[in-house]
Amino acid sequence: MTGPDGVPGPAAAFSACSADGLAALGRAIGRGLRDESVDRPSLLIALDGELGAGKTTLAAAALAALGVQSPVTSPTYGLVHPYTISLDIGKTVEVLHVDLYRMRHSGELDELGLQDGFQYRSGEACRVMLVEWFENARGNLGPPDLSLHLSHADSGRLVSLRANSGSGGRILRSVRKVAHPELEAMYEAN
Ligand SMILES: Nc1ncnc2c1ncn2[C@@H]1O[C@H](COP(=O)(O)OP(=O)(O)O)[C@@H](O)[C@H]1O
Ligand SMILES: [Mg+2]
Repeated sequence: MTGPDGVPGPAAAFSACSADGLAALGRAIGRGLRDESVDRPSLLIALDGELGAGKTTLAAAALAALGVQSPVTSPTYGLVHPYTISLDIGKTVEVLHVDLYRMRHSGELDELGLQDGFQYRSGEACRVMLVEWFENARGNLGPPDLSLHLSHADSGRLVSLRANSGSGGRILRSVRKVAHPELEAMYEAN
C-alpha cells in the first residue's frame, strides 16, 4: 500500500505487556506527530482493533505527548473530540480524536464534517486526526500516514504499525527506538 505522497513505508510490531508499555509507544507517536506537524498541512493516524484492545490508551498518550494538556477521554459517544495546541514556534495544531465505532454508514462522515475539516484547514494550522475504528470510514478519509492495529495477546497486547507516507515512516522509525521494560519489538520490515 502507498500513502498520501505515494511512499510505501516501513512496518513493525510490538508486544506490550501493560498499558504502560502501550503508552510508551503512544508517546513516541505523539512526539513524532509534533515534529511532523511543523511542515505538513495534515496528518492522519488510523487505529484499529477490537474493543478494549487499547486504542484509546495509546491515543491518550500520543495526544498528551503532542501537547494536549486536558485529560483525554474516549470519544465513543461524541464521535469527535477536538483540541487545539500552540507550538513553541507560533504554529497551531488542530487535533481531532475520532471514534467511528458507532458509525453506521459513510454518510455520517459528511455529517461530522470530517472530510471537509480535513481538507480546509485554517491559516497555517496543521490538522492532526487520530481515528479509532478507522476501518469504518471505508476509505473515505483517504490513506493514513500511519496505520496501527492492536489485538489482545497472552502477554498483554500486540501492536502492528505500517507507515504509508514519508511522515509516517519517520514517526515509525522513532517509535522503533523506544525502550521500555514492558515493550518488546517482534517484527521489523524495510
Ligand atoms: N498492554 C496492555 N496490557 C494489559 N492491559 C492493557 C494494555 N493496554 C491497555 N490495557 C487496558 O485495556 C483497556 C483498553 O481500553 P481502551 O484503551 O479503552 O481500548 P479501546 O479504545 O481499544 O476500546 C484499558 O483498561 C487499559 O488499561
Ligand atoms: Mg476506544
